[in-house]
Amino acid sequence: MFKQVSKQLAFQATRNFSTSKQSNFKVTVCGANGGIGQPLSLLLKLNPLVTQLNLYDIVGTPGVAADLSHIDTSSTTQGFKGPEELGAALKGADVVVVSAGVPRKPGMDRDDLFNMNAGIVRDIADAVSKNCPKALLAIITNPVNTVVPIAAEVLKKNGTYDPKRLFGITTLDVVRSRAFIGHGNNVDPQSVEIPVIGGHSGVTIIPVLSQSQPKYSKEIEPLTKRIQDAGTEVVKAKAGAGSATLSMAYAGARLANSLLRGLNGERNVIECSYVESTVTEARFFSTPVVLGKNGLEENLGLPKLNDYEKKLLVEALPELQKNIKKGVDFVAKS
Ligand code: NAI
Repeated sequence: MFKQVSKQLAFQATRNFSTSKQSNFKVTVCGANGGIGQPLSLLLKLNPLVTQLNLYDIVGTPGVAADLSHIDTSSTTQGFKGPEELGAALKGADVVVVSAGVPRKPGMDRDDLFNMNAGIVRDIADAVSKNCPKALLAIITNPVNTVVPIAAEVLKKNGTYDPKRLFGITTLDVVRSRAFIGHGNNVDPQSVEIPVIGGHSGVTIIPVLSQSQPKYSKEIEPLTKRIQDAGTEVVKAKAGAGSATLSMAYAGARLANSLLRGLNGERNVIECSYVESTVTEARFFSTPVVLGKNGLEENLGLPKLNDYEKKLLVEALPELQKNIKKGVDFVAKS
């Protein structure tokens, strides 16, 4: 049923925000005034691979840009506000990271955000087609499972879709898994390597704990559930003030840095990301992928799964396919 990939997952040691080579990359953050957008922009301002950082939002970006521009790193920062400045914000970007949209409140699941966020991602993808069609487009906005297909369909309609250049950011699921395993095992979370596959909501999140290095020393099932529900853990703790922002900014900066390292010619840059693939019957699916000069260089496919993880995959696929269809239908009707 599924393409089995025998390749050993050789995750590189995390070098989150550094590189050895010099570069000249322009990055645009859409949603840059938000709870995620601001700390994400800060982390990108510290990234030596970024030379120009463009901050786009419907409010607040002149202030955020002025603030960040006083940091003594070499990149320059510019703010862009409102739809009339979106094109200028995107012009010539190498990487576009999108966190524009509404976050969850207690009692909501990610799918409840669809009505607010679908149109936002559609319009940004349309502007990417027109202003930076070769950019790597990485999407944080929820529901990731559905808005990534929306972006794909919009880019396709405009004749600029390259599946190697579109990424749904599921990195926070990997970051959380590493944190929980590391602290659970009493080892440095940075030393933990684990693939998390599938999508980015509830049962579609599949942490492949059988492949974790080191192995998790406690019970697998409660940890699996905790990773799947970790976003809700934060939503509840924030009690109405939104969802994960700081950990998401860290995760988004990590993925953006990996995309830039790949563009910069570094080899063996591997991240899990939600991309178009034929690995399963779901058109979009997160697996470990090799990043390079053209974005996605190679999809490493499914890691080896044990019986419990195979069961999780069977549970995830119908939900994921439903989420994907919703996005495709939205663009067809738009
Ligand atoms: P927030 O409400 O703090 O920030 C969102 C920002 O988007 C605001 O500054 C707002 O002005 C801006 N915005 C709204 N409409 C826009 C438009 N048309 N164009 C440009 N900017 C626009 O929300 P937060 O906490 O930053 O979350 C953003 C998104 O990220 C939410 O959809 C949330 O569900 C998602 N998220 C995704 C995660 C993931 O793992 N992929 C994890 C956590 C959150």
